[in-house]
Amino acid sequence: MSDQQIVPIHVLGIPGSLREGSYNKALLRAAQEEAPDGMTIEIFEIGDIPFYNRDVEEEGDPEPVQRLKRAIREADAVLIATPEYQHGLPGVLKNALDWASRPPGDAPLKNKVVGMMGASPSPVGTARAQLQLRQTLVYNQSRFVARPEVLVSKAPSKFDDEGRLTDEKAREFIRKHLKAVAEKVHEAQRESAEAA
Ligand code: FNR
Repeated sequence: MSDQQIVPIHVLGIPGSLREGSYNKALLRAAQEEAPDGMTIEIFEIGDIPFYNRDVEEEGDPEPVQRLKRAIREADAVLIATPEYQHGLPGVLKNALDWASRPPGDAPLKNKVVGMMGASPSPVGTARAQLQLRQTLVYNQSRFVARPEVLVSKAPSKFDDEGRLTDEKAREFIRKHLKAVAEKVHEAQRESAEAA
């Protein structure tokens, strides 16, 4: 592809972990390094998002929720890096996704291209959490990237002490996944241009 054909793609990277030394935050930093030409990945922390409460929502979204929803709407795609807790999604991430699934019919996640990846110490590297994430995204009508999967197993052996992903195979999967994200964004843009 020549430089003239590169269309900028803005991706919102959401880590499903709040801790500073998180492998999943580190995965998003690796994705920033591996992003294809034209793609930028902004990391959005979800630590200040309150628990979903319909009573609160009816009075108006709290400011952190407004920021999250605005950031998702403004992004061409979302990239979620999720840990696995009890074979599923961490509550903090599910909570953020629940806010972003509202209002039904006009939710920021509706039609949004969503990439996903995950790192954990287990041999299956968040496969079960990512399956649950897919279920959530199906009902949101998000356009999630199913393949290639980025499942970083045995995480402690794949990051250095500074939290840098050192596993070249994992980096290759991230590059391929980001390429698939870019293709899905282009597909979505073509479809909305045709529908206009
Ligand atoms: C875990 N962990 C974990 N790992 C896994 O692969 N499958 C699992 O079901 C669980 N369950 C689980 C539950 C709870 C409550 C905690 C705190 C942890 C381990 C988890 O993968 C590990 O702590 C990761 O390091 C978390 O991701 P971050 O914070 O490094 O991004």
